[in-house]
Amino acid sequence: MKDRIHRLLAKMRSSIPGRAGTTPPSAGRQQESEIRQVSDTAFMAAAYRALETRHRHALFQDPLAAKVAGEQGERIIGHLPRRAFLGGWSVVIRTRIIDDFIGLAVDEGVDTVLNLGAGLDTRPYRLELPAELRWIEVDYPHVVDLKEARLAGETARCRLERIGLDLTDTGARRTLLKDVAASSKKILVLTEAVTPYLAQPAVASLGADLLAQTFVQYWLVDYFSPSSYEYRRRSGMSRMMKNAPFLFEPADYFGFFSKVGWTPRETRYFAEEGEKLRRPAPFPLPVRLVMRVMTMLASPTRREQMKQYAGFVLFEPARPPGDHLKALKSR
Ligand SMILES: C[S@@+](CC[C@H](N)C(=O)[O-])C[C@H]1O[C@@H](n2cnc3c(N)ncnc32)[C@H](O)[C@@H]1O
Repeated sequence: MKDRIHRLLAKMRSSIPGRAGTTPPSAGRQQESEIRQVSDTAFMAAAYRALETRHRHALFQDPLAAKVAGEQGERIIGHLPRRAFLGGWSVVIRTRIIDDFIGLAVDEGVDTVLNLGAGLDTRPYRLELPAELRWIEVDYPHVVDLKEARLAGETARCRLERIGLDLTDTGARRTLLKDVAASSKKILVLTEAVTPYLAQPAVASLGADLLAQTFVQYWLVDYFSPSSYEYRRRSGMSRMMKNAPFLFEPADYFGFFSKVGWTPRETRYFAEEGEKLRRPAPFPLPVRLVMRVMTMLASPTRREQMKQYAGFVLFEPARPPGDHLKALKSR
């Protein structure tokens, strides 16, 4: 009996993010992933947004999500274990965080949103945006072609352009950034669930290229804590996503971005945002109970770490103040 209780507790602990456990919950279960390449993750994200749109208390409406995700999206999320992205919870929460950040940036005068690795995101169709806002989506050419076909006949709320490009093609990326910057005054760059799939030098190189463009004022980037890397491996997520592995796992996330020249202006964590939105992470009841006890027993630092497991960061360039205004005047 005692042994059984021990085994049960070990299993629960291993299902808790931010906690080093011993028994991977998926050990022994060999499920084939429907994700065959990184671009398939775009279908996964859109399918989770479609699912949320049908939720009784949906946190947003994305009426075109089901159309772009199609059967492929449904199949992909149908084959993922329930714990994957906590059943899409992290996709839902990050959507709300990014929607808010975009609203703030537009209020602060951003005239261009450059969405790198835009996948099947449909924000230009569903957000209240100024008609004159320029919105540029970039992804692999085959993703862009498919999206164009699926959204033919739909009307975006702002000036929308799409460009097919491999973001790791440095020459093509630099040309694109120069072109965009030449006709914009204040740019927000969004990389939503994209940097995790790029190797560390590729993220550093992208960050440096963005910094080189004075008119890029904001960069929105995923945050993952080191304990989340560990959880992905332990929970079997890495195995399920073996064809689209996370390659970006800096030991010191904020130190990495600081070295590349980016300063966080605001960080929002999924757990805190989920609480605010009355949509906490949907862990099974026994896991929630264990987590509650662990939270009560944890030190304040550890409690903070548990809350700050993953999120989204609005970065600003660490440039001398006034650089942007000087560049504007010299145009
Ligand atoms: C998880 S999806 C996110 C899509 C979208 N941002 C969203 O949140 O719905 C990752 C996206 O990054 C794109 N991507 C990854 N590496 C890329 C690269 N080297 N060049 C262009 N796109 C890339 C994939 O094609 C995919 O659309």
